[in-house]
Amino acid sequence: MSDNILEIKNVTKKFTLGNDKIITACDNITFNVKRGETVAIVGESGCGKTTLLRGIMNIDPITSGEILFYPKNENCRDIAKLKGEELRKNYRHIQMIFQDATTAFNPRMRIKNIITEPLINFNIIKKTEINEKAAELLELAELSKDYSDRYPHQLSGGERQRAAIARAASISPEIIVCDEATSALDVSVQDNIIKLLVKLQREKGLTYIFVSHDLALVSAFAHRIVVMYMGKIVEIIDGDKLQEAKHPYTRALLNSSITLCKQNVKH
Ligand SMILES: Nc1ncnc2c1ncn2[C@@H]1O[C@H](COP(=O)(O)OP(=O)(O)OP(=O)(O)O)[C@@H](O)[C@H]1O
Ligand SMILES: [Mg+2]
Repeated sequence: MSDNILEIKNVTKKFTLGNDKIITACDNITFNVKRGETVAIVGESGCGKTTLLRGIMNIDPITSGEILFYPKNENCRDIAKLKGEELRKNYRHIQMIFQDATTAFNPRMRIKNIITEPLINFNIIKKTEINEKAAELLELAELSKDYSDRYPHQLSGGERQRAAIARAASISPEIIVCDEATSALDVSVQDNIIKLLVKLQREKGLTYIFVSHDLALVSAFAHRIVVMYMGKIVEIIDGDKLQEAKHPYTRALLNSSITLCKQNVKH
């Protein structure tokens, strides 16, 4: 079996605007993700990070390229070619966490129903099992089971992200894709969420693709960092070898995140 869980090959995504202007948001992106590792994707606003994730999830189909997924007990498939029921079934293996769970969650659903919804949708549990399963998932995400009957607006931002993690992890996916999942949180809450993700990774062998604009943050836990600039990959570096980054853009990102850290310390 291949060490790689995902092989992203020559992925290009173009958007056509109303006036026939074409934007190449992702330009010939190629990289692999190994099973059980965290790959971070960093780069400035507008460089194509979200577009790439939406392509990997096939929420917004790519223009060209391949996204080869090697599930544990099934045959390799090209996610980019999946449609309809096959695509829906694939979300059993690959889940996504967004920046802000407020918009991702139905405001009229209780937390217990939100976090167990994937299990109900995939017919893994029955409605009568929701309370018990929700309690288990809340514990996994280090939230009190008292949150079960609350609505999303009755949770803090950090607690909502924990609920989003519980929901994504509920169906035991192989990959969780996170788009700026901690960016709206203050630094100490951010650290705790990262610790939770790392703990779950160790316990469950999860693979993460973690999009962030914060190089300093991802260098603390990512095994590898893919640096994007204007739709292209400029460098792929090991998380613990960031100081050896060669590309001028990575060096500039690194210097600006160090400056920001220093400013944080000062204030
Ligand atoms: N649906 C769309 N139609 C047209 N252009 C789009 C669309 N979605 C994204 N873009 C453009 O594609 C480029 C990449 O956008 P994307 O959202 O992937 O950036 P990003 O790296 O995630 O930025 P941020 O860090 O601000 O979230 C941008 O120029 C954006 O304007
Ligand atoms: Mg984005």
